[in-house]
Amino acid sequence: MSAPFSAPFIITIDGPAGVGKSTLARRLAEALGVAYLDTGAMFRTLALHMAQRLGGAHFLEALPQGPALQSLLEECLFALQGAGAQTTLLCNGEPVGDAIRSEEAGMMASRIAKNPQVRDFLKQAQQGLGLRFSLVAEGRDMGTVVFPGALCKIFLDAVPEVRAERRFKQLQELGEAAALESLIRQIRERDHEDRNRPIAPLRPAVDAHIIDSSHHSIDQVFEAIMEAARQTGRDAPPSCPMRRKDRALSHEESQVLLERGKYGVLALAEAGPEAWPYGLPLSYVLMDGAVYFHSALEGRKVRVLAENPRVCFTVVGDAEAFYERNFTTSYESVMLFGHAVLVEDAEEKYRALFRLAEKYLPEHRDKAEGDIRQSLARTAVYRIFPEAVTGKAKRRKKGAKAL
Ligand code: C5P
Repeated sequence: MSAPFSAPFIITIDGPAGVGKSTLARRLAEALGVAYLDTGAMFRTLALHMAQRLGGAHFLEALPQGPALQSLLEECLFALQGAGAQTTLLCNGEPVGDAIRSEEAGMMASRIAKNPQVRDFLKQAQQGLGLRFSLVAEGRDMGTVVFPGALCKIFLDAVPEVRAERRFKQLQELGEAAALESLIRQIRERDHEDRNRPIAPLRPAVDAHIIDSSHHSIDQVFEAIMEAARQTGRDAPPSCPMRRKDRALSHEESQVLLERGKYGVLALAEAGPEAWPYGLPLSYVLMDGAVYFHSALEGRKVRVLAENPRVCFTVVGDAEAFYERNFTTSYESVMLFGHAVLVEDAEEKYRALFRLAEKYLPEHRDKAEGDIRQSLARTAVYRIFPEAVTGKAKRRKKGAKAL
């Protein structure tokens, strides 16, 4: 995306329950290096807060009104921390937690979501976040009501049976008992509530890309969403399809490798016909899903980045040559594309430098604070939000001889 951090942009993903919105929105936010806003989580958090304050779920029978409801709502102050897959939704400074994920919380959320005062309160909170951050905003009315001017709008759909089956598998993985039949019934009921309510009913915006995911894998749907995002004219990073797909690392494995990698190589692209490619070895740290590195205030790197912030960053993990019928190697590496952006915020800059000191010299971490304070003004810190990440590994089979 060109200058992704200078002007916040919004991409909306709407659709019914269980359609894969959260997974896809999180993945898109990760690919674009922006925050992920799960607005269903906001309704769920409010519903649980109300149940707690009003002594149980029976508050739904007679929701407080007017100023009483308003002051209850205002007890919840929402904020976002981090970006991409690491985005955390905070309520009053605390992560919203797993309690909101229960089926009961979902049902209560769906009930309070019919109340205009509740919707208006959350709309203002969501728009406030949209003013401060670039977002992938996921919900029911993101493209129609909350962010009608969004850069790109996606509406995801799938038949109830397929959605219930996906939810069933999710619950099984969490070790929770569930009956498929009752999940189908719940999804139908929730659809009915969401699609037929008089305010902000669930429907696609007229300018939304409608994607039916019933018969497509999550990867195929993600590719369709990325394509829609690319059509916005923003310069998405190059995709680098891997010839040996069997060696591709999953997104999570790539993250782990970035996290534990020691040094990396930053590739910069100078402009002009006389330019040479420029790759430089770097110490770096992964913080809140982004790669941070430091530099002097001047020099070739600083000059090139000011002209062209597009970079490719590579980390090689464990690598070893060995003999197994022929000469071969085992290796693991991760490569990401993104924009290297100068960190202006003093607190973020300090945290990144502290984490660097901690990563490379943990035994001297007590001296880090003083050193950093002294050198802060002479040091530049850059942040790269990964906009595209690929990892690759060839693992050694047992019994092979190392060279
Ligand atoms: O997406 P999730 O299942 O977490 O949302 C819980 C409920 O919150 C939904 O069933 C829906 O009724 C409501 N909701 C909404 N508008 C949004 C997000 C969620 O009405 N933007």
